[in-house]
Amino acid sequence: MKSPFLFGRSVSTEGFTNRKKEIKRLKSNFQHCINTLLISPRRWGKSSLVKRVAHEVTTKKLRIVQLDLLGLQDEMEFYKALATATIKGTSSKFEEWVTAGKEFFKQLTPKISLGPDPMHDFEISFDWQELEKNYQEILNLPERIARKKGIQIVVCIDEFQNLANFKQPLLFQKRLRSEWQHHQQTCYCLYGSQQHMMMSLFERQSMPFYKFGDVMYLSKISRKDWISFIIKAFDSTRKHIDDVLADHIASLVQDHSYYVQQLSHMVWISTEKNVTRSIVEESLENLLEQNAILYTRDTENLSSSQLAYLKALADGISAGLSSKAVIDKYRLGSSATVAKAKKALLNKELIEIRNSQSFFLDPVYELWFRRFIRS
Ligand SMILES: Nc1ncnc2c1ncn2[C@@H]1O[C@H](COP(=O)(O)OP(=O)(O)OP(=O)(O)O)[C@@H](O)[C@H]1O
Ligand SMILES: [Mg+2]
Repeated sequence: MKSPFLFGRSVSTEGFTNRKKEIKRLKSNFQHCINTLLISPRRWGKSSLVKRVAHEVTTKKLRIVQLDLLGLQDEMEFYKALATATIKGTSSKFEEWVTAGKEFFKQLTPKISLGPDPMHDFEISFDWQELEKNYQEILNLPERIARKKGIQIVVCIDEFQNLANFKQPLLFQKRLRSEWQHHQQTCYCLYGSQQHMMMSLFERQSMPFYKFGDVMYLSKISRKDWISFIIKAFDSTRKHIDDVLADHIASLVQDHSYYVQQLSHMVWISTEKNVTRSIVEESLENLLEQNAILYTRDTENLSSSQLAYLKALADGISAGLSSKAVIDKYRLGSSATVAKAKKALLNKELIEIRNSQSFFLDPVYELWFRRFIRS
């Protein structure tokens, strides 16, 4: 029997739970052509939510174009990916792709390649120099297609924080914003992790994407929803878990979407009929063990002040880390050192800041750290 728990890839129908409010808000933004910026720490469920909403709203008149900045080296690769995704997302037959590939370009001469399965393997490429001069044509492609076809398009760009790896990220943002702000029938949904980085893109007045649209901070799925999700998933496969143990699973990993699914899966695999507390505890041990190499490496790469900062967090100190008492106790040096360590830990995505307080970002790392590192 297949496990009812899924992790490691986005979920949209099977394995997807709740998010009713967020679905409603995002759906409404898509339908009313309002730009959205969706932010959350890693693995909380951004990609899954967008995929789910895309699935629900797509009609002949409303098309969703999805692309991912992960793995794109530079701005030029982005334009190529945007052109490919736009044409794919707005035409259903490959003959249409070929026509669209020619029809919608004026300055650029696209090269179209179809793979052995033309329904799926379609790529469009350009002469790099030509593209550098006429990149606007690609940025305006979705809008041009939307107008010509009398449809509305939502362009969803995942892992948006990756633009920081491009050579001139600020110039790139300016270019996007200056074209996109004129679009009427196309809107954008930009989403990604590295919360502090994404926030600085959208919240600083000096940044091109300031006030670009509705900023949504995805929150965690509630404990109550997780409990009923876990119980139902076990029931559907003729296994049983009671609400106390379902609550225990979610609480061990602090309701973190990915880990709730992963730990539930591990418990499910080890259970024949009824879940017991010892199965949950053993599964947690396995989870810690599986991640130990990664966590050891992350910890070895910390400077002594970063390590001291995490030790303080592990002791439950989430605010006032630059107070004299905390600095003395953890030998953090000075408040400047604390600020520097905090910044580095944010960059490494090991901590997050909520209401001016610092927290471990990865709940399983926190458990591991508390057990093996805390002095
Ligand atoms: N609504 C949901 N219901 C149940 N499980 C979910 C839900 N959303 C996310 N998950 C679980 O969390 C995992 C991570 O989700 P997803 O990839 O959508 O997150 P993300 O925020 O896009 O992550 P990343 O920051 O790595 O891109 C999924 O594989 C799934 O196990
Ligand atoms: Mg994602």
